[in-house]
Amino acid sequence: MFENAPNSSLEMVIDETPLVSAMLEYSWNIFLLSLVISVLAALLVFLSLHWLLVRPMGRLSANMIAFRKSPEDISVGIKPSGRQDEIGVAERELEIMQTRLRFALKQKEHLAALGVAVSKISHDLRNILSTSHIVSDGLAQVDDPRVQKVVPRLVASINRAIDLCTETLKYGKAGEREPEREIFFLSPLIQEVWTAIELPAEAEIAFENLVTDDFTIFADREQFYRVLLNLCRNAVEALKVDGIVLLSAKKEGGRSFLTISDNGPGIPVRAQEHMFEPFTGSVRSGGTGLGLSIAKELVVAHGGVIHVEKTDETGTTFIIRLPD
Ligand SMILES: Nc1ncnc2c1ncn2[C@@H]1O[C@H](COP(=O)(O)OP(=O)(O)OP(=O)(O)O)[C@@H](O)[C@H]1O
Ligand SMILES: [Mg+2]
Repeated sequence: MFENAPNSSLEMVIDETPLVSAMLEYSWNIFLLSLVISVLAALLVFLSLHWLLVRPMGRLSANMIAFRKSPEDISVGIKPSGRQDEIGVAERELEIMQTRLRFALKQKEHLAALGVAVSKISHDLRNILSTSHIVSDGLAQVDDPRVQKVVPRLVASINRAIDLCTETLKYGKAGEREPEREIFFLSPLIQEVWTAIELPAEAEIAFENLVTDDFTIFADREQFYRVLLNLCRNAVEALKVDGIVLLSAKKEGGRSFLTISDNGPGIPVRAQEHMFEPFTGSVRSGGTGLGLSIAKELVVAHGGVIHVEKTDETGTTFIIRLPD
């Protein structure tokens, strides 16, 4: 019918609303679908990154922190998971590093303990050798050619030994043996200590031993010799040329009290704070700062206490309290 009407036109009228809403619904669905796909993809990426990288990295860093806090604790070391990738390599390398570091630390600890021991032995050996030095000086006065022949060698070897101890003291660090206590008379020990101290040639240092002949103490004689030698040496060194060193003792309430005093210039303020700590107490040139720390360690090992009763420009008094 229309073929015969060339100029005719067709006009279609349709309702757009369902079409628009269908298209909108379609695009909304597409949007929701792509959102779900992206969230799923993101979740997958997140989970795989978390499982494959973040978690093992977190384990590594937590282990490093724990190791840094207590490197000696063997329960802290990393256990490699056996992975073949870079994380696995990092875990194995960290394990090797931790094992080596722990070994090095142990070695260092042993060496430090050995160093303290060597320093303390050298310190007191030097004091003991000084006594031999005095004795050999006395030998030099003997008018016998045989004695005269050996004395220079004796003096030289003692000097060498003293030098060796002094050198050793510049380094290192010690455990003292347990005191072997016995009851002994204190006065002769004090006399021994005094004769062992080398007084400066021009010195006019008086020594007063106020301890009665019958006064006994219960202690390790050798160790107490070292305690008193260190304290008396300090007093003599502080006095320099003249003054007096005084030793007295008493018993009270089942305890022995020993007093060592001098009328020297007092302990320098700088030395007072750390004077009983090894290496830090000395403010004297040539001093190692071990004397008082050794004295304290030995007194404490006896269950005793050592303290400075007084120190000022009129002098210094140390008191040692020992249980009987
Ligand atoms: N009786 C004292 N009078 C004044 N100062 C003292 C006295 N005793 C100790 N001191 C001070 O305390 C410091 C620490 O004494 P300590 O015996 O520990 O070390 P040191 O005498 O310097 O060295 P060393 O290890 O050779 O004994 C000394 O340097 C000295 O300054
Ligand atoms: Mg000293």
